[in-house]
Amino acid sequence: MTNVVLVTGATGTVGRHVVAALTARDADVRTALRDPEPVSSEIADVGDTVAFDFTKPETWGRALTDVDGIFLVRPPVVDKSEVGSFVDAADRVGVSHIAYLSTLGAAKNVLVPHHWIEKRIMATDLEYTLLRASFFMQNLLEVHRPDLVEHDELFVPAGSGKTSFVDARDVGEAAAVVLTESGHVDRAYDLTGPEALDYGEVAAIFSDVLGRSITYPEPSLVAFANRMRRRGEAVGFIALMCGIYTTARLGLAARVTDDSQRLLGRRPRKMRTFVEDYADEFRGTSRRTGR
Ligand SMILES: NC(=O)c1ccc[n+]([C@@H]2O[C@H](COP(=O)([O-])OP(=O)(O)OC[C@H]3O[C@@H](n4cnc5c(N)ncnc54)[C@H](OP(=O)(O)O)[C@@H]3O)[C@@H](O)[C@H]2O)c1
Repeated sequence: MTNVVLVTGATGTVGRHVVAALTARDADVRTALRDPEPVSSEIADVGDTVAFDFTKPETWGRALTDVDGIFLVRPPVVDKSEVGSFVDAADRVGVSHIAYLSTLGAAKNVLVPHHWIEKRIMATDLEYTLLRASFFMQNLLEVHRPDLVEHDELFVPAGSGKTSFVDARDVGEAAAVVLTESGHVDRAYDLTGPEALDYGEVAAIFSDVLGRSITYPEPSLVAFANRMRRRGEAVGFIALMCGIYTTARLGLAARVTDDSQRLLGRRPRKMRTFVEDYADEFRGTSRRTGR
């Protein structure tokens, strides 16, 4: 159990929900922000904010002062070694507990940076909880929203493979649980949603909820990469997405666990609930408000 909790990645897909869930639990939250000035009121209204950057160790001391627990995110743009050095710094100053946002399969997959960071955390004296999350439903709001809004299609090169999509709101709430309740120290949880779906089934849910036909054309990896290039996405990001969707295509992203249910004390959100909750954004009638 922790008192002051430092939340990294607090403006991100999961971090914003960690802040909200910790606040709802009356935890003492400190949000670590690269630029504390222009953050949304959603973040600024809660707790203390501190300037923090993984690539600027001179910002770490103030951020870590009197901190008991950390919600740790490795931003995709930050090198794993910088996150590792930050973990060591947290250990040195006496932080007691880190909840780390990892990815499903990280224990065995030596290719993902999360594998290395998990090991680095476990090599310290810190108490830890590893939150190995499945593919976020919110990726559909971010990377794939233009295809849905402008072309009425789900343009994902995942073939007929199934994915155990998890809602980032549930991941955020699970993080708040492990940081504020006892019994989660030195444990790892595989956080998935309640069902594994292929993208044809996801498209059918979109069609039903939005009241218009959304198709899943099962694009090849090459067709997907070409469209992403035309949209101006970076080559590295496209390669990462292709790797993730190849995992799904091979049927390796389909495992459903009951860890989310056990932590949340309720069923995690289904894909249908996610699409209903963000329907205006998928209809294009709402300004993108975040996740
Ligand atoms: N997407 C998935 O399906 C999925 C599934 C499982 C695990 N994951 C893992 O989740 C992590 C990403 O979490 P997310 O999606 O919640 O984050 P996100 O939406 O990608 O946002 C990244 C966050 O990191 C912050 N950030 C960027 N550079 C920083 C720096 N140099 N120093 C400090 N903060 C910095 C950003 O702040 P600014 O507002 O300042 O940019 C933002 O708050 C990754 O490690 C990913 O592998 C993702």
